[in-house]
Amino acid sequence: MIDLSHFPLSFNVAVIGASGGVGKALAEHLDAHSQVNKLYCFSRSSDEHIYLDLSDEGSIQQAASFVDVPLHLVIVATGVLHSADFMPEKSLRDLDAETMRKVFEVNTIGPALVAKYFIPLMAREGKGVFSALSARVGSVSDNRLGGWHSYRASKTALNMIIKNISIEAARKYKELAVIGLHPGTVDTGLSEPFQSNVSEGKLFSPESSARYLLDVVNLVQASDSGKVFAWDGQEIEA
Ligand SMILES: NC(=O)c1ccc[n+]([C@@H]2O[C@H](COP(=O)([O-])OP(=O)(O)OC[C@H]3O[C@@H](n4cnc5c(N)ncnc54)[C@H](OP(=O)(O)O)[C@@H]3O)[C@@H](O)[C@H]2O)c1
Repeated sequence: MIDLSHFPLSFNVAVIGASGGVGKALAEHLDAHSQVNKLYCFSRSSDEHIYLDLSDEGSIQQAASFVDVPLHLVIVATGVLHSADFMPEKSLRDLDAETMRKVFEVNTIGPALVAKYFIPLMAREGKGVFSALSARVGSVSDNRLGGWHSYRASKTALNMIIKNISIEAARKYKELAVIGLHPGTVDTGLSEPFQSNVSEGKLFSPESSARYLLDVVNLVQASDSGKVFAWDGQEIEA
């Protein structure tokens, strides 16, 4: 059993993007956990989940209205790197304003809107974590390769949103950590076109990545709020 002992003995969770590779694995681990009282799963594509489309603020507000108990853990596990219509840019030549808008809509604006409607639903007492899946490539200081302009920049902006929200939320929620999480390179649809570049043993299954992320979430404290952590608990510098 995954160690979630720093959370209350009975606590409530919301997973946004429970249809994704990492999101589904997170939801499965949480669903099986004895401390989890209520688990709310949101996505735009599964009938089993409460409907939520990040590009429609009204649907986020509506989805939040289904939550009828205080939440101790929220995980935003959504994200986009490529789609049927676009691939990440290799160079400036590939930059396209409409693609960039779409990537920012899902990776930056969507999670910010989720925070707008879900942080007010969080418990005022006991450990709380609001987390959003970010990516190591959003680190400005770690950027040695370039490329992937929209994805990188959208995650950098997400990290700033996380920091900003952490400052605002700390005024009301004394035990809340607002954090970004890097799941490692995980075998999902998002990484699928790029897996040939991943060295042996470095491609996690969604199940393993989700387990690592829950270990991190269990250990973070309010004093960590605003930071971004990798799957192994190491902080990722901005
Ligand atoms: N996989 C990796 O190697 C890797 C590495 C670093 C960071 N990450 C980050 O980890 C997170 C999860 O990625 P993943 O690998 O699990 O990707 P994934 O399997 O492609 O899942 C992406 C999720 O985002 C959801 N989504 C996309 N657009 C949405 C929208 N407009 N409204 C609502 N939901 C939307 C998808 O929902 P639908 O099912 O409706 O499309 C799906 O649930 C992302 O933030 C990603 O950037 C992943």
